[in-house]
Amino acid sequence: MTPLTLDDPFTLNNGVRLPAIGFGVFQTPPDETTDAVLAALETGYRHIDTAAAYGNERGVGEAIRRSGIPREEVFIESKVWISDYGYEETLHAFEKSADKLGVERIDLFILHQALPSAFDRTRAAYRALETLLADGRVRAIGVSNFMRTHLDDLMAEASVVPAVNQIEVHPYFTQPDVQSADAQLGTLTQAWSPIGGITSYRGNGGGSTFDDPTIAAIAAVHGTTPAQVMLRWHLQQGRSAIPKSVKRARIEENFDIFDVELTDAELAAISGLDRGVRGGPEPEAVTLETFARDIPEA
Ligand SMILES: NC(=O)c1ccc[n+]([C@@H]2O[C@H](COP(=O)([O-])OP(=O)(O)OC[C@H]3O[C@@H](n4cnc5c(N)ncnc54)[C@H](OP(=O)(O)O)[C@@H]3O)[C@@H](O)[C@H]2O)c1
Repeated sequence: MTPLTLDDPFTLNNGVRLPAIGFGVFQTPPDETTDAVLAALETGYRHIDTAAAYGNERGVGEAIRRSGIPREEVFIESKVWISDYGYEETLHAFEKSADKLGVERIDLFILHQALPSAFDRTRAAYRALETLLADGRVRAIGVSNFMRTHLDDLMAEASVVPAVNQIEVHPYFTQPDVQSADAQLGTLTQAWSPIGGITSYRGNGGGSTFDDPTIAAIAAVHGTTPAQVMLRWHLQQGRSAIPKSVKRARIEENFDIFDVELTDAELAAISGLDRGVRGGPEPEAVTLETFARDIPEA
């Protein structure tokens, strides 16, 4: 189901419900994470996306406790880093993440990347997620940055279809082939850099989505901002989105998107902005040699 109102969550392929809009914390410094997540929770967000590799799971857990909102009302998503792939290693990675978050159970636990050159380790890591799911330590499992071939290779042996594939999707890079592979499997596509943050903080010489004239014109018609237009584009096309900000005004702006309705022509115009240029790492080039990083104990 596509969420068109705040009360309309996504239903994952195992029946678990995911709030319509989430909050990201990539690059949020550990000492700013609690304030940012608290601001998000006060605004009304009930889904937080973090990762072991972001180094800020502790701040996320602290914000949830300080908010006073019952734990079961907040949907926590986190990711295992590639350095912790392998069956036993990934089971242990869950304990590290859960302990840093200060929770017994993580709502959605996903593999951060495929490791194409060591796919046996990727499979073993996913088997550990299946065990965690069977044991009730997580409510849903999934993947991130998996291309169609990685999904095919995973499903050749996996028994649980990933609930979510979190991939780079913004108006300048939409990955239609991965989105259709997700849809064929029954996997929800979740957009990272949903408002094209990566076109701004990484830059690709081609300007950022925030300054795009087509998006600006649509925003002007609706009396909204470019970020709000992009977030509506995701929701109306059935994608989960997890915008990040450390600024309260933007955190509120990115949540205030439930009174806008884009037309089919506007949705198509935004999709037509795709330049086919990836901002994140090339998934095939992610190896332990180039991207290893130690994930500390809790
Ligand atoms: N799985 C992966 O490999 C992966 C990779 C990247 C990201 N992610 C996840 O996806 C989340 C979002 O992606 P992202 O952080 O790359 O990009 P994003 O959410 O598209 O954009 C965030 C950037 O835009 C700025 N911003 C936020 N709201 C704005 C607004 N309304 N108007 C103008 N600028 C605004 C933010 O700066 P301020 O903070 O200064 O406001 C930040 O620089 C991450 O936080 C993370 O949870 C996952």
